Amino acid sequence: MRKDIKEILINEVTLQRRIDELGVEITKDYEGKNPLIICVLKGAVLFMADLVQRIDTTLEMDFMAISSYGDSTKTSGQVRILKDLEKSVENRDILIVEDIVDSGLTLAYIINLLRERNANSIKVCTLLEKPARRVAQVKMDYIGFEVPDEFVVGYGLDYAERYRNLPYIGILKEEIYNT
Ligand code: XMP
Ligand code: MG
Repeated sequence: MRKDIKEILINEVTLQRRIDELGVEITKDYEGKNPLIICVLKGAVLFMADLVQRIDTTLEMDFMAISSYGDSTKTSGQVRILKDLEKSVENRDILIVEDIVDSGLTLAYIINLLRERNANSIKVCTLLEKPARRVAQVKMDYIGFEVPDEFVVGYGLDYAERYRNLPYIGILKEEIYNT
């Protein structure tokens, strides 16, 4: 698997150190609030698991799956719900946990949906953001790292469902998705 990676962009130590910092910040901001932390499947699942262990307030977790990409590296522009939340978001303080914000369309869709369902507050924590291809302007409250306009995989992020189990963020060799 390592041989398919052109370059390691963010190594394991750097990732975990930044997640420590985000945990401290989020703990401070949500003290006494019992937020509902929403993980956007599947990409954010590894980040979610590490992040919540560093948030020192009571919290609840829920999961939602959204489709916008299929198996390609380009967005189809279409967003739909594959798995909805189990909990009501009404009057809850919501923290959305995302793997990466690229065009911003997925996140804009989710924020809109939670607003319609009358959440009390909505904040966003994304591990990565790729500013180069932003279409929808969305406010991100906590950002792990900014990444260049390259297709990245690992630590939850996939190419055709593979590479999610890498412990770091890497750039895939072009030959993998050009064949
Ligand atoms: P948008 O464009 O809606 O994209 O902000 C959000 C979702 O697209 C996926 N995405 C990627 N997945 N490497 C990936 O593995 C990437 O470089 C990449 N860029 C976008 C991702 O699922 C994200 O939640
Ligand atoms: Mg994905």
